[in-house]
Amino acid sequence: MDEYDYILKILLIGSSGVGKSSILSSYVEQSFDEQTIQTIGVDFKLITREYRNQKFKLQIWDTAGHERFRTITNSYYRGTDAVILVFDLTRENTFEEVEYWLKEITENAADNIIIHLVGNKNDLPKKVKKESIAKLVLNSQIPYIETSAKNNFNLDILFDDIIEQLYRTKITEGDYLPHHADSHKISLLGKSVSNKKRLNRVCC
Ligand code: GTP
Ligand code: MG
Repeated sequence: MDEYDYILKILLIGSSGVGKSSILSSYVEQSFDEQTIQTIGVDFKLITREYRNQKFKLQIWDTAGHERFRTITNSYYRGTDAVILVFDLTRENTFEEVEYWLKEITENAADNIIIHLVGNKNDLPKKVKKESIAKLVLNSQIPYIETSAKNNFNLDILFDDIIEQLYRTKITEGDYLPHHADSHKISLLGKSVSNKKRLNRVCC
C-alpha cells in the first residue's frame, strides 16, 4: 500500500527551455533527454522521500515556461507549498526574467510559500555572472542552488532542502497535520489553514 505521512505540492516554474521538465524526469525517474518537447500544459509526478522517519509524498508540478501557455498555469499556484524557480545558467535572459517570475509568485501564491532559486545546466559553460546571482540572492534572501538535470547534480539536495524547510517552518509549527490523522479538515494537498484563509481572501 502506498503510505505516507505528508503530501507536499511543489511547483516548478521559470522561462522556457531552462530545464524544468528535465529536472523533474531526472529527479523522479533518473532519466534525461537531450531533445525534449516544450511543455504546453501542466503535468505532475509523484515521489516519496523519507525524512526524520516520516514519509513525504512530493507532488511535483511541471509548468509551461513559454509565454503563450503561461496564463494556464496561474491557477496551479493554489495549494502550493513550495516553488522552484529555475533559470538557465547558459542564457542570461532567463536570469533577467527571474524578476518576472518572482512578481508572478507574489501575485498568485500564498504569502508563506517557500521559494528556491535554481541555476540549471551547470554542466555547461556559464554565461550568467556570479556577481549578478549573488546580488539577487542577497536582496531577495531566497535560497539558491546550482543543478544539472543532465548529470542529476544537486537534485536530491534541492528537494531535501525543501522538505527540511517545510518541516521546520510549517509542520513543526502544527500548521500541517499528518495525512493519516483522523480529520477531514486536512486538504489532500496538505494546504495549511493559513493558506486556505489567504486563498479565500483572494477569490472572494
Ligand atoms: P518548457 O517546457 O518550454 O518550459 O521548457 P523546460 O524548462 O521544461 O525545459 P526542458 O526540460 O524541456 O529542457 C530544454 C532543453 O535543455 C532540452 O534540450 C534539455 O535536454 C536541455 N537541458 C535541460 N537540463 C539540462 C542540463 O542540466 N544540462 C544540459 N546540458 N542540458 C539540459
Ligand atoms: Mg517543460
